[in-house]
Amino acid sequence: MTTIRLPGLVDVHVHMRQPGGEHKETWATGTAAALAGGIGTVLAMPNTSPAIVDEASLDVALRLAAGGARCDFGHYVGAGPDNAEAIATLAGRAVGLKMYLGQTFGDLRLDDISTWETHLEAWPEDGVIAVHAEGSTLKTIIELADSIGRSIHICHVAGADDIGHIAVAKERGVDITCEAAPHHLFLDRTTDLPPGRAEVRPRLGTPEDRRALWEHLDVIDCFATDHAPHTLEEKDGDDPPPGFPGVETMLPLLLTATHRGLLDLDDIVSRLHHRPVDMFGLPVDEDSWVEVDVDASYEIPTSGQSRSGWTPFAGMSVRGRVDRVAIRGEVAYEHGGVVAAAGTGRDVRREGSRRP
Ligand code: DOR
Ligand code: ZN
Ligand code: ZN
Repeated sequence: MTTIRLPGLVDVHVHMRQPGGEHKETWATGTAAALAGGIGTVLAMPNTSPAIVDEASLDVALRLAAGGARCDFGHYVGAGPDNAEAIATLAGRAVGLKMYLGQTFGDLRLDDISTWETHLEAWPEDGVIAVHAEGSTLKTIIELADSIGRSIHICHVAGADDIGHIAVAKERGVDITCEAAPHHLFLDRTTDLPPGRAEVRPRLGTPEDRRALWEHLDVIDCFATDHAPHTLEEKDGDDPPPGFPGVETMLPLLLTATHRGLLDLDDIVSRLHHRPVDMFGLPVDEDSWVEVDVDASYEIPTSGQSRSGWTPFAGMSVRGRVDRVAIRGEVAYEHGGVVAAAGTGRDVRREGSRRP
């Protein structure tokens, strides 16, 4: 047994399903899953039902989060076709603006380039704009943001071309950051998954795409799960929605990768703590931490705390187990049991917190 304590980890990209998708996940179940995965802060996306695109929907979302969360949290707001000015006034309460530029789950999609520009200009310069984009759309938004002179964060980079393009742009000094998701790092099209369960956006890549992500580790600012819970019934049904649960399995998978020499502990801590804290201006509490046994081996079970009830990583052998998590001095998870009550998590943008 080798127990190591890491600082509080942040997952900058999760989907809790409240309001509107409570049968898939709630704040109470999703943050229980996050704690079981060693994550102390989750930043939640706005493609709920209804989507979070104005003050009233943000009020509802933050109230639901505050009532249910067992770990600390923040919320993104969504870019819509005509809310650029109004949504920007909410920047202090949100962790970022999310722009969906490609095929996704929910109805938050912006097809018109002129609205992209309006949002890039309206959102405060020191705030985060996170974009869902791939391929030519990704190239266009990077070019546009660069020409305006504002930073953007690229979500879940999945392909060799995309990560290569980001690497070149960063080298030119373009102000962008990016994240990679565990499913794109540890799974690919050759992974044996039933077709509905394999659905995710961006899609799983080829083994070469996966390799390219690992080869460009230095370009990847954050690891983020894109925890996108849908039930097994939905995944195995006629119209399977895209997305995988991920918060419970990311850290064990990354710790396993350290044993294979793919990265080291500092690479994990920088991408799950230091960079997220810097990029989003998050409060840091020295009494928020996670203890992991880096030697414990086990097989990922078929389901865990997430209400979705499944995982694409089931059966994989991992080495590295989450033993204890503390949030601001209180033990929140211990040896397989979630201790923190629903409603004990704090909004990272609450009054008095550091803002971007
Ligand atoms: O696979 C995905 N699922 N990609 C997305 O962009 C959205 C997410 C979801 O909310 O289910
Ligand atoms: Zn996305
Ligand atoms: Zn997402």
